[in-house]
Amino acid sequence: MERTYVMLKPDAVKRKLVGEIISRIEKKGYNIVEMKTMYLNEELLKEHYAHLADKPFFPEIVQFMTSGPVIGMIVEGNDAVAGIRRLMGPTNWQEASPGTIRGDFANNMTENLIHGSDSVENAEIEIKRFFG
Ligand code: CDP
Ligand code: MG
Repeated sequence: MERTYVMLKPDAVKRKLVGEIISRIEKKGYNIVEMKTMYLNEELLKEHYAHLADKPFFPEIVQFMTSGPVIGMIVEGNDAVAGIRRLMGPTNWQEASPGTIRGDFANNMTENLIHGSDSVENAEIEIKRFFG
């Protein structure tokens, strides 16, 4: 069994897509083993998005990700890391196929509803970061 870290972003909460997204994760056969609502701050985001902290659009990410609550989850199942990424669709909403979460619901580069760890190694780091 593999674990990954999933986070529903503030737009998912505001647009009332939390149930829809969780439903897709459950229907695919994954288990949600932990879940909590959180408010993120800039310091934590600089750590979580360290690979983007120097980009000109980073302030926009901080603005967005602190605009409301997020829902963090530990999701478990076969091939959970890659499998959740497939359910999400690619980062760029214009490349995300219908049927994926971003392909069906996102129309913006920053506000794209969901985070999922990109490797098994990062999943464990992120689970520790958000769940201790
Ligand atoms: O979320 P994902 O792993 O697919 O992509 P990332 O490259 O790790 O970027 C993290 C998040 O930063 C994205 O999901 C977007 O919300 C945001 N981002 C952005 O606003 N503009 C970009 N050019 C790239 C990423
Ligand atoms: Mg990423």
